[in-house]
Amino acid sequence: MAATIIDGKAIAERLRARVREEAARLAPSGVTPALAVVLVGENPASQVYVKSKSRQTLEAGMRSFDHARPASATQQELLELVGRLNADPEVDGILVQLPLPPQIDAQRVLEAIDPAKDVDGFHPVNVGRLATGAPALMPCTPLGSLMLIRSVRPDLAGAEAVVVGRSNIVGKPMAQLLIAESCTVTVAHSRTRDLPGVCRRADILVAAVGRPETIRGDFVKPGAVVIDVGINRVPNPAAGEGKTKLVGDVAFEEAREVAGAITPVPGGVGPMTIACLLRNTLVAACRRRGLPEPEL
Ligand code: GUN
Repeated sequence: MAATIIDGKAIAERLRARVREEAARLAPSGVTPALAVVLVGENPASQVYVKSKSRQTLEAGMRSFDHARPASATQQELLELVGRLNADPEVDGILVQLPLPPQIDAQRVLEAIDPAKDVDGFHPVNVGRLATGAPALMPCTPLGSLMLIRSVRPDLAGAEAVVVGRSNIVGKPMAQLLIAESCTVTVAHSRTRDLPGVCRRADILVAAVGRPETIRGDFVKPGAVVIDVGINRVPNPAAGEGKTKLVGDVAFEEAREVAGAITPVPGGVGPMTIACLLRNTLVAACRRRGLPEPEL
């Protein structure tokens, strides 16, 4: 039986609508959550992301402050900007778009962000809180992926979960979130021996490899929930000379024949990332002010 296709676009839309409702509930107390986005240089993919983030922040009834800096910006300039945003009482969330130009030590910049405003969840304090089960701001892509998993499998206790990829942005925090859901978690990566065999154990398989269609149909356990975090642009000669298309890290057509549920690319995890960023901005705004936190 072919898999259920998990509609990330629709689930993200519902989450954004909930954020909009909750933001509207804060308005009478004079609170309008605000997200500051720092973009350095002219990476086209980053420019698209940042524009989308700003638009969706405004659509959710929150404020968006964009801080664009040239590719020549120095470490000192960025640290000063982050310092000003930390001190600005109007700013609830700070996001520094990655990647940063090579002259910038990204980790130092991320560590300069006030953990209470760290809506990406990349600051070591939030990483540590997530790992120890304390209230944290959680990285958006793994959090969105967990919401998609829960949409088809609400009770994850005891499930075998395999996360392929060990990045700080996705793989490691995804593993932490699944541990917190009482899954038995394996983290696989480029040096894993017998990747297909490891993946075949998974009731929940999360692919965050960064290489197109690496996870084949025969890596998938029948009935598994497959979450594809990858977004890869590849040539699409069938559509004509020079044309391209987006594919995930999972060979979708093969995997959907075996999986119980699977996310498409595009329209799966992608839309959840920004929706979770809006959620985190709202949560940060409430926590900073000691206001009750909505369940989102
Ligand atoms: N670049 C690609 N994804 C992300 C993300 O989730 N956060 C930030 N800050 N930069 C990114």
